[in-house]
Amino acid sequence: MICEDPMKPTVAPFPAARPRRLRSTPALRNLVRETTLTSDDLIWPVFVRDGDGIEEPIASMPGVTRRSIDKVVDAAIEARALGIPAICLFPYTDPVLKTSDCAEAWSPDNLVNRAIRAIKSAVPDIAVMTDVALDPYNINGHDGYVVDGEIVNDETVEALVKMTVAQADAGADIIGPSDMMDGRIGAMRSALEAAGHRNVTILSYAAKYASAYYGPFRDAVGASGALKGDKKTYQMDPGNTDEALRMIERDLSEGADMVMIKPGLAYLDICQRIKSTFGAPTFAYQVSGEYAMIEAAAQNGWIDGERIMLESLTAFKRAGCDGVLTYYAPAAARLLNG
Ligand code: PBG
Repeated sequence: MICEDPMKPTVAPFPAARPRRLRSTPALRNLVRETTLTSDDLIWPVFVRDGDGIEEPIASMPGVTRRSIDKVVDAAIEARALGIPAICLFPYTDPVLKTSDCAEAWSPDNLVNRAIRAIKSAVPDIAVMTDVALDPYNINGHDGYVVDGEIVNDETVEALVKMTVAQADAGADIIGPSDMMDGRIGAMRSALEAAGHRNVTILSYAAKYASAYYGPFRDAVGASGALKGDKKTYQMDPGNTDEALRMIERDLSEGADMVMIKPGLAYLDICQRIKSTFGAPTFAYQVSGEYAMIEAAAQNGWIDGERIMLESLTAFKRAGCDGVLTYYAPAAARLLNG
């Protein structure tokens, strides 16, 4: 935490003060480090697909795979062993199940809901987070219903509420609305209360920007080909900061327990301002494009991938985030746990 005390001592003049003294040994550096990263700070996003015994590579995200449910359970077991508290599920939906009414989104037996149940029966103490948006199920790749070329808000919220309750019924611990529709958090919160899911938490993607950094993710969930147009009528303009504060305030006032900024590294100013303004549990999403950029440069031998990974994750903590959603979760936890 930054010292805000106006009475703080000024730094003594050289050579009474030699700031390098405290950098001179690993022990002293460890002792005075202000920000630390641990496996407790990580949420691991995982892609789920149909089948059995499958781990299919994703070309634009080297090292990340689409896993069948049995392999997702293995990932949850690995997460628990590594001390990662939460795993977040994203479905790669069979194209034949994509429709314009997106009914698969709230089917109790869709891929995500089956994966939640499988994880909860094998590893009950891992928190399972879900994504709430229609894009994996929508014929046109949008997060909401499209009527005459417009993404319609209120009808979409009704669908998102059904999706939320189906995920909570399956055992989800953290609902992650990533759709950016208006009024969704309040509607989801009331529906969860009414369905008896009082302790199901909401981690709202409250400040989500219309970003080119999501490209590889859309490949991973098979939405790239489907997406018509862009998401700028619901996701935020990258030039805006005050709007992010308003979105966070609104989502907290509607009952979000935690909030998220997305993408991550290019938006650390937003993270810092949000944490210092609201003091709510705040997360950032180090998204697919950020991961792909680090991996591509590392594979070329242009950067040290492991060091960049830990440095970028530490930066989120330094900016005030309580944790980070990152595809690096298992790799980072392995290094951090020594
Ligand atoms: C879907 C969703 C997206 C991401 C998370 N949930 C993509 C999008 O909004 O187009 C992106 C995650 C990533 O890039 O890693 N609503």
